[in-house]
Amino acid sequence: MEAETTILDRYGVMGYPVAHSRSPVIHRLFALQTGQQLQYELLQVAPENLETAVRQFQETGGRGLNVTAPHKQAVRKLCDHVSERAHVAGAVNTLSFVDGEIRGDNTDGIGLLRDLVVNLDLNLDGANILILGAGGATRGIVGPLLDMEPASLRIANRTLGRAQDIVEQFGDRGAVTACQFNAVPVDEPYDLIINATSAGVQGQAPPYPKAAVQPGTFCYDLSYGLNPTPFSVWASAQGAKQSVMGWGMLVEQAAESFHIWRGVMPDTAPVLKQMSINARP
Ligand code: ATR
Repeated sequence: MEAETTILDRYGVMGYPVAHSRSPVIHRLFALQTGQQLQYELLQVAPENLETAVRQFQETGGRGLNVTAPHKQAVRKLCDHVSERAHVAGAVNTLSFVDGEIRGDNTDGIGLLRDLVVNLDLNLDGANILILGAGGATRGIVGPLLDMEPASLRIANRTLGRAQDIVEQFGDRGAVTACQFNAVPVDEPYDLIINATSAGVQGQAPPYPKAAVQPGTFCYDLSYGLNPTPFSVWASAQGAKQSVMGWGMLVEQAAESFHIWRGVMPDTAPVLKQMSINARP
């Protein structure tokens, strides 16, 4: 009898570096849970090789890729079609290879919102929100946050001009303002402070605005780790109501990518629990 060989649909995450990525574990757990047959690889690709690597993955039958730092912006120009939300974010984190086309999407914003609103039960309607940082991560989340109709959204950044550029892009959609860390107004309490700087990844805790954290303030770090991040340590020390790392956003953005690729929405709760054991309240 001939042995049957199954060729599994191929997916992966492309980044530089990428060894630290938890995406393979998350997608394997999703596949197991939903009974989907697929394989998911780690693909370390330097910026100068991005185009060749993406096209090669496509030509050899790859079905989809997650794209992470530093490629999220550069990969846009390889896409034949970019979703509205990826266009607004100016960044792509999910590629699908369908009918010879490369389709780009961005699931980061919806991932954050699902974590904040569904998993953590925050009400953002009428909330005062402060985002620290004005890079690619911030661009991905401002649109979805404004969809929740907060009372105000302030973006504080070390380099004022970058925060102002984002305000210019989104200013017609709500009360969005920009400032530097040392000029964050604290006359009204912030309901939510989101750290979207990459400072913590480098082990740094820049001069975040201390007075912005009040007893009712919920603090969320887009970064995550098995040990508390510098921002989450800082937020707890300032007396935040709760200080949470971005494990939930990570799992939720992955679930949305999985749904785009496979048409099946995994149950994120058990995966989040498994990934972030001891890291969430
Ligand atoms: P990402 O895609 O992770 O957002 P990015 O586009 O390079 O990466 O943006 C990094 C963000 O972290 C920026 O807001 C950056 O501030 P500047 O615009 O002033 O560079 C912020 N950041 C990084 N290291 C920082 C530090 N040590 N102190 C304060 N802000 C920092």
